Amino acid sequence: MFQPDLLRDKRILITGGGTGLGKAMASRFLSLGAIIHICGRREDVLQKTSSELSAQGNIHAHVCDVRNLDAVEAMIDTIWKSGPLDILVNNAAGNFIARTEELSPRAFESVIGIVLLGTLHATMACGRRWLKASRSGTVLSISATYAPVGSAYVVPSAVSKAGVEALTRSLAVEWGNRGIRMNAIAPGPIPTQGAFSRVLPRPELEALALNRIPMHRFGTTEELANLAAFLVSDGASYINGEVIRMDGGEFLQGAGEFSNLGRVLSNEDWESLKPRKK
Ligand code: HXC
Ligand code: NAP
Repeated sequence: MFQPDLLRDKRILITGGGTGLGKAMASRFLSLGAIIHICGRREDVLQKTSSELSAQGNIHAHVCDVRNLDAVEAMIDTIWKSGPLDILVNNAAGNFIARTEELSPRAFESVIGIVLLGTLHATMACGRRWLKASRSGTVLSISATYAPVGSAYVVPSAVSKAGVEALTRSLAVEWGNRGIRMNAIAPGPIPTQGAFSRVLPRPELEALALNRIPMHRFGTTEELANLAAFLVSDGASYINGEVIRMDGGEFLQGAGEFSNLGRVLSNEDWESLKPRKK
C-alpha cells in the first residue's frame, strides 16, 4: 500500500505502544522505516513488545505513566538526547463501562488523567521543543467516534476524548503556522484485549456492537495502522486539524433517521410500499 521508505528515519513516540492499536502502529511504522519509541506503565509488556518487534527495526521502550507530567518530561528529555522526535502518537488510554452515578472521584480522575491530561502532557512536551527549535512536527491522537456527541456509560472517556479533539483542532490553528500538524483518528470498535475486555466484556455486548455497523464486521488493527501511517507521513502534509472517523459507517448508521428500515422491512414489504400502477 505504501512505499517501503514512507517513514524512513522518522522518529516516532507512540504512547501506550506496548499493546493493541499502539503495538500495531509501531509494527507498521517500523516496516516503513521509522525509529520507534513506545511507552506504558508495565515494563514486562513493553519489553515483550520491543523484543518481538525489534526484528523489524529500531525500537525503544520507556516505562512512563503519562498522567505524571514530570515522568513525561523526563522521558521526552531522554528521547531528545538521541535526537528530536518528528511525530507523536497519543494512543494511551483508560476506559471501562459503568453507570456514571456510581463512579468514584478516583475513577473519573484515572481515565481523565490518562486520556486528557496524558495527551496534554505529551503534546506540550513535544510541541514546546519543536517550537523552540523551529522544527516541524506532527501529532496524531487516537480518539473515539463518541467524542463529538458523548456516550452513556463511558462518560470519563467521552469527556476526555472530546477534550483531545478540541486540543487537536485548537493547536492545529495555533501551531499550524509554525509547521506543526495536529490530527486525530476516531476508530469504531477494533478487537483488542485491552478495549474489548473493558468496554465489550460479554458476547451479547459484542453482538450489539456488531449490529450497529453497516459493514457488519469490526475494524482491524492493520486498517488503523495504515490510516495512521498515511496521516503522519509527509504525503499528508496539508491535512491539519482533522478527525478522521474509521468505523465502517457505524456513526452515520446511528445518526440516520431511517437507517434501520432494512432490518425490519422485507423484500415483500418494499414491494408493497411501491406506488400501485394506475
Ligand atoms: C467502576 C472502576 C472500574 C469499573 C476501575 N474503577 N474500574 N469503577 N467500574 N469497571 C475505579 C477503581 O475502583 C478506582 O476507584 C479507580 O477507578 C482507579 O482504578 P485503578 O484500578 O486503581 O486504576 P489504574 O490501575 O490506574 O487503572 C486505570 C483503569 C484501567 C482505566 C481503571 O482500566 C486501565 O489500566 N486501563 C488501561 C487500558 C484501557 O483501559 N484500555 C481500553 C481503551 S478502549 P476507587 O475509588 O475505588 O479507588 C477505549 C475506547 C473503546 O478507550 C471504544 C470502543 C468502541
Ligand atoms: P489497549 O491495548 O488497552 O491500549 C492502551 C494502552 O495504553 C496500553 O498499552 C496501556 O499500557 C497504555 N496506558 C494506559 N494507561 C497509561 C498511562 N497512564 N501511561 C502510559 N500508558 C498507559 O487498548 P487499544 O484498544 O489498543 O486502545 C488504543 C487507543 O485506541 C486508545 O486511545 C483507545 O481509546 C482508542 N480506541 C480503541 C478502540 C478499540 O475498539 N480498540 C476504539 C476507539 C478508540 P499500560 O497498561 O502498560 O500502561
